[in-house]
Amino acid sequence: MKELKESLKKVYWPYCVYREFARLKADKRQFWQDAVFSFKVEKPKHGSLSDYKRALAKHRITYREYMYLYEYWRIDEKQRNEFISESEMRCIYRKTVKKSISRIIDNKYQALMVFGKHVRRRWLYVPKASFESFCEFVNSIDCLAKPVYGSLGRGIVKINRNDEKDLMELYANCCENNMVLEECARSIKDLEEFHPQSLNTIRVMTVSKGRDCKMLGALFRMGVGDSFVDNSSSGGVFASIDLETGELLTDGHDKYGKTYKLHPDTAKPIKGFVIPYWEKVKEFCGELTSVVPELVFAGWDLNVCPDGEIELIEGNSAPNVYGGLQAPLKKGLKPMLNAAGKEILGYDPLKLISIWSKSYVELEERCSL
Ligand SMILES: Nc1ncnc2c1ncn2[C@@H]1O[C@H](COP(=O)(O)OP(=O)(O)O)[C@@H](O)[C@H]1O
Ligand SMILES: [Mg+2]
Repeated sequence: MKELKESLKKVYWPYCVYREFARLKADKRQFWQDAVFSFKVEKPKHGSLSDYKRALAKHRITYREYMYLYEYWRIDEKQRNEFISESEMRCIYRKTVKKSISRIIDNKYQALMVFGKHVRRRWLYVPKASFESFCEFVNSIDCLAKPVYGSLGRGIVKINRNDEKDLMELYANCCENNMVLEECARSIKDLEEFHPQSLNTIRVMTVSKGRDCKMLGALFRMGVGDSFVDNSSSGGVFASIDLETGELLTDGHDKYGKTYKLHPDTAKPIKGFVIPYWEKVKEFCGELTSVVPELVFAGWDLNVCPDGEIELIEGNSAPNVYGGLQAPLKKGLKPMLNAAGKEILGYDPLKLISIWSKSYVELEERCSL
């Protein structure tokens, strides 16, 4: 059996390399086309298409990363080498994230069950609930309906208990769209003040192995306008958090690279604010990663509740690091990723960016007979 597994791995590896190569080529072709178009339309004052071409070849970056997020046109090669691009990070995830883990973390219903001890709000998975319990839920509390596989704050609907609604139609819709209902959570007053219409959460990115966990970065996210979600892709603003102290180190940023000293709606100053109960947040992350010991990278959305307790909103098994963690500080994550990887995982995850590096996870999963 062992020999059979070994020979399967030998056959499978060249296939993985070929597939990685094809993906890389497709990514680069797409990024190049986008950049040619954007240079033509936007006529930017900085950078040039030839410089972008060099950066694309070496760092696999998109036009948005080059022009706005990391301002590659402004920095030298040493600094460029420190940023990790979206395409590179996806490559690392492909080689480290086990499907059995992402099936739990990225499925909101599964995650609510697995992390039950770390969730304080009421919830109901509609496809498995009776019409009566659904009615009792939506008539007794204000809640959010979320698609189980949703991301970026998309597809989330607010249901106010006092609103007129056709309950039968709503129930059918929630079942059809595989939705989970969650009681509307509240934050501690200091966080709520930034934008009371939305839940303003903390995103922490961790690298972990079993009980060993290290924070790679953290940001505080605030909703804007009428939005009840704080995701940057839904217009939200985010600022970097000092991992030691919980202080906001930067002004607010949006996904286009625009900065805000004050929250655009409430005018609450952003930089210098200290996240309350930061030590508890750090401990909480260790508790979360120990629930799923095979997890490698994760992005946790956390809420500091009115009584100072911490609650999990959701986890992500392949979190976005490009915009949030690197852009506000204009500091690349690669040195941190290298050090934390060696310390926690026992290897340098940056090595996995190469198309020649083996995809250990896939090899193991596919070849476990
Ligand atoms: N139970 C809740 N109560 C109030 N706001 C919530 C709740 N759950 C999520 N939110 C808001 O919606 C945002 C997106 O929710 P999340 O569950 O993280 O979904 P997504 O995968 O789309 O990011 C959160 O960051 C938060 O601002
Ligand atoms: Mg989220």
